[in-house]
Amino acid sequence: MHAMERCEACGIVPVVVLQDAKDALPTANALLAGDIDVMEITMRTAAGLDAIRAVAQECPALLVGAGTVTTTAQCEACIEAGARFIVSPGFDPDIVDLCLERQVPALPGCVTPTEIMAALKKGIRILKFFPANIYGGLAAMKALSGPFGGVRFIPTGGINAGNMAEYLASPLVPAVGGSWMCSAADISAGQFEKITRASRAARAVVRELRG
Ligand code: 3PG
Repeated sequence: MHAMERCEACGIVPVVVLQDAKDALPTANALLAGDIDVMEITMRTAAGLDAIRAVAQECPALLVGAGTVTTTAQCEACIEAGARFIVSPGFDPDIVDLCLERQVPALPGCVTPTEIMAALKKGIRILKFFPANIYGGLAAMKALSGPFGGVRFIPTGGINAGNMAEYLASPLVPAVGGSWMCSAADISAGQFEKITRASRAARAVVRELRG
């Protein structure tokens, strides 16, 4: 299954920021135990790359992607480490070209008509919409879907257990992304069962909406 189909099937893309790569596998397993089989590990920390490598090698049941990829060098390293999709906060044509060349799905952040047109030119129709809560949320995505029929959005930024349903109820939204299930405090305290509980709750919302 294509990585974006896996994201859609799960309905949730957890955004995970790790300070220490040793937490990667326990976090991945906690997500899996909560019925989430997708994980975006961000490159915001020095541990990001080793964490991606560990999950890609040790946890084949989980689709691991790289987040906050802002340079082609980073993108290259993430693909080499085993990232199965590449998420960027914005649209960078060079990163997208590299992903296309390597046949690794790119999920670039696009919130304006100009950025969406640039992504469409590259054949990308599922886009990250970030920060969703600041850039107009679902109302903005609906307005943008007028001229750009067929485009869908994975909103991140400000999504949580309380508002995920309103986004996911829209056919424009194959999945929502966010960090609410994997808080830095829980990870550093080793409270992985809290991640499992939050994941299970989020998946229950997806199932309730989709039947
Ligand atoms: C992202 O990188 O997509 C966001 O930082 C996630 O946003 P959140 O922390 O508000 O969920």
